[in-house]
Amino acid sequence: MATERTLVLFKPDAVQRRLVGELYSRFERKGLKIIGLKLLRVTPELSKQHYAEHVNKGFYPLLESFITSGPVVALALEGPEAVAVVRGMMGPTNGRQAAPGTIRGDYGVSRQMNLVHGSDSTDAAAKELAVYFRPEELLSYDTSLAEWVCADDEK
Ligand code: RTP
Ligand code: MG
Repeated sequence: MATERTLVLFKPDAVQRRLVGELYSRFERKGLKIIGLKLLRVTPELSKQHYAEHVNKGFYPLLESFITSGPVVALALEGPEAVAVVRGMMGPTNGRQAAPGTIRGDYGVSRQMNLVHGSDSTDAAAKELAVYFRPEELLSYDTSLAEWVCADDEK
């Protein structure tokens, strides 16, 4: 089992709907460690870097317009299999199809305004973390509760 890092964004709809605190607390309660955090406005250039795989798709102009429409919160999270754990907590892209208990299932009814982004692979996570954070903005530190979050052979 590998300790992984992943990028999460609270998208402009989450900030505008004042859901940042609720969403943040879900990841804290889950046991993931927050190693980076910032509020920023995504520029069109940053959007194209982040969503490079979607730039040539028909829905990209709407996606760029949405993701640049207001501030976002960027989080770097660390934990065992953090990439898949976060994707599971988010639920599928469309909030109308996302199961209750997931973030998109509990808070949204939209395919575009789906509140959160999470890296979908460890390779994507490494690239996306580098897009949003400088190396020195990602902190390594121990937490006193770590021994109660998972066993030594899971770290
Ligand atoms: P994300 O990258 O933001 O975590 O979302 P995801 O993996 O669940 O979905 P992805 O396929 O990567 O799409 C990125 C974002 O683009 C918007 N979208 N619009 N109109 C459309 O057909 C469409 N498809 C996707 C959504 O905001 C989605 O989260
Ligand atoms: Mg994606």
